[in-house]
Amino acid sequence: MSIHISAKKGEIAKVVLQPGDPLRAKYIAENFLENPRLVSQTRHILYYTGIYKGKEITVGASGMGFPSIGIYSFELYTEYVVDTIIRIGTCGAYTTDLKVFDILNVENAASESTYAKYAWEIEEELLPHQGSIFDVINETAKELSLVTNSTNIHSSDIFYRKNPAIPEIATKYNCPAVEMEAFGLFANAKYLGKNAATILTVSDIIPSGENISADQRETALKPMIELALEAAWK
Ligand code: HPA
Repeated sequence: MSIHISAKKGEIAKVVLQPGDPLRAKYIAENFLENPRLVSQTRHILYYTGIYKGKEITVGASGMGFPSIGIYSFELYTEYVVDTIIRIGTCGAYTTDLKVFDILNVENAASESTYAKYAWEIEEELLPHQGSIFDVINETAKELSLVTNSTNIHSSDIFYRKNPAIPEIATKYNCPAVEMEAFGLFANAKYLGKNAATILTVSDIIPSGENISADQRETALKPMIELALEAAWK
C-alpha cells in the first residue's frame, strides 16, 4: 500500500496504462483485459490489474492535472515495481490542422508549470517522453496501420482562462494541442529514471468549438487504447 493507492505490493504490474478518468480505467479493464481485478479504489481512483495476451497489465486513473498525476505516478514508480507508465488521454487542439479523433504520441511536453522545478529542481520548461516506450508506440502504430502524429504538446495547469489567445509557450515550442498531465508524468519519470509516454486523442478543436460528443467517446478512444495495450504488451 502507498498513501493514495491501496493495492498490495505485487498487485500492480510493471506496465501501467493511465487514463485521467477512473471510469475509463474500469471500461478498459472490463473490456480489454482478462480476469481484471480491482486492486485499489482509494478516493474512487480505480486501479485494475488483469491479463492482456498473456501479460499482466495494470490500468488505473491519474485524475486531472499535475498535482494528481504527480502523486499517482510517483507512488506507482516508487512503491510498486512499475517501470513504465503510458498515459492515455484527450487533448484540445489549438489549430484546425488537427481533427477530432487524431492520435498524438507526445514527443515533448511544454509547460509554464513550476511542478518540475519545485518537485525535482528540473528547470526545463520542455520535457521529453522518457525511455524507449515512445518509439515502441510509433512502431506499434505502424504495425497496426494506425496514423499517429509525433508532436510537442502544451501541458497546462489551466483549463479555463480569461484570454482565449494561444498561450505564448505553445507557440514557442510549436505545440498544436493542450492537455494537463504529460509534463508532470515526464518530470517524475525523468527524476526517477523510469519510462513514460503519453498518447492523446484529440477530443476538441478549440478555435471551432467542435468536440467529440459524450456518446462518441467510448468508440473514439478505442484505437488509442488498443495502441497502448499492444505497446505495453511488447
Ligand atoms: N484544455 C486542456 N486540457 C484538455 C482540453 C483542453 O481544451 N481538452 C482535453 N483536455
